Amino acid sequence: MAKQTAESDKKLTITLKCFYGFEDVLMEELQELGYTDLIKGNRAVTLKGSWRDVYYLNLYSRCAINVLVEITRFPFKTEKDIYDAALSVNWSKLFHERNTFAVRGAIQTKKIRNTHYPFLLVKDAVVDHFKELNKERPSIDIKHPKIGLDLYLTDYEGVISLNTSGLPLFQRGYRIATGIAPINEVVAASLIRLSGWDRKQAFYDPFCGAGTFLIEAALLATGIPSNIERTHYAFKNLNTFDANVWQEIIDQAPRIVKELPCKIGGSDISDEMVLKTRRNLRGFSFGRFVNVQSLDFNAIEANPEIEFLMCNPPYDERLSLEDEALYQQLGTWLKHKMQGVPAWIISSNEEGWKAIGLKPSKKYEVFNGDLRCSFRRYDTFAGSKSAALENDTKKA
Ligand SMILES: C[S@@+](CC[C@H](N)C(=O)[O-])C[C@H]1O[C@@H](n2cnc3c(N)ncnc32)[C@H](O)[C@@H]1O
Repeated sequence: MAKQTAESDKKLTITLKCFYGFEDVLMEELQELGYTDLIKGNRAVTLKGSWRDVYYLNLYSRCAINVLVEITRFPFKTEKDIYDAALSVNWSKLFHERNTFAVRGAIQTKKIRNTHYPFLLVKDAVVDHFKELNKERPSIDIKHPKIGLDLYLTDYEGVISLNTSGLPLFQRGYRIATGIAPINEVVAASLIRLSGWDRKQAFYDPFCGAGTFLIEAALLATGIPSNIERTHYAFKNLNTFDANVWQEIIDQAPRIVKELPCKIGGSDISDEMVLKTRRNLRGFSFGRFVNVQSLDFNAIEANPEIEFLMCNPPYDERLSLEDEALYQQLGTWLKHKMQGVPAWIISSNEEGWKAIGLKPSKKYEVFNGDLRCSFRRYDTFAGSKSAALENDTKKA
């Protein structure tokens, strides 16, 4: 729960950005963290808060990609409005000219043909601001800027914000080893929340790869912040940075657990991937409680370690015959061996979904990075319940 910020300190407009379709999930997470008066936007949620909240949210939000702090909002008619608005900001109060910076964002207006140009206008205004003060001009670094500025432009309005996270928050700092198709950490955390997992049922991933679902599930169940291993945040480069407040937040964050509140485990056919999962788990106090083994999912029998399934089976853009067989087997395995166990699967492969041969009870369109995927829940029951499920699905 966030430490209460006095009403008078809630001066900042803070926007947390999320992936497509996860706005409600992010709202729910923020409510759980103790935040109220949330405004849902397009791939974003906005709230009022203090710098303490900015630090806290960067550490604790599992479903946000970054945390922005609004610096100026202006009516937009012509390109000059962008430059003038950016020049009116006292940038030297916010950051030192020794820092490199970059401007990114979203241009959602057709009034401007060259969508890169508004970013250049902001950049010029920032540089001119420092020049007018006879200071050194800060340099641009597109790839690794110390200060990130965000411009959001619509037909009538512009907003310039500081990106207080810097590198996106899915760079958690815990994944030292990955496979070829790892799931994005923010997507994994968002899917776990979207699934409604109660953090008590035994969680199992039979295609665990480098263990992202397992780690995000364990972090959620234990309350350990997903970014506990991350050290770089752009807010540390701002003049406003209060190292004492940040230290206090870090010191109060849970890190060590003596047990897991529920069983979490997984497996993968590849020995190499299992080793990678173990390596990634090693950095956490809960690592030794997560049971991981090398297994073909077909060989797994129903057991008390599996009460809730979540996985992303291999998905190539074009389904090979081998993959088709795997999806078919997955459907058969769920139907015959995992009766009564809710199974959530994310995949981008339409042919794969057909090959599973089961009717999902829930279905969401989501993205894993740029990849359009579907996230589906399957419930398989013995005998007549199966028919009941099909009827329910038809009604929904
Ligand atoms: C898309 S990756 C999973 C990535 C994982 N979620 C992560 O974040 O790293 C699919 C995984 O399925 C595994 N796999 C393929 N066939 C399998 C099978 N028959 N049984 C179990 N695992 C299998 C692959 O080794 C691969 O690691």
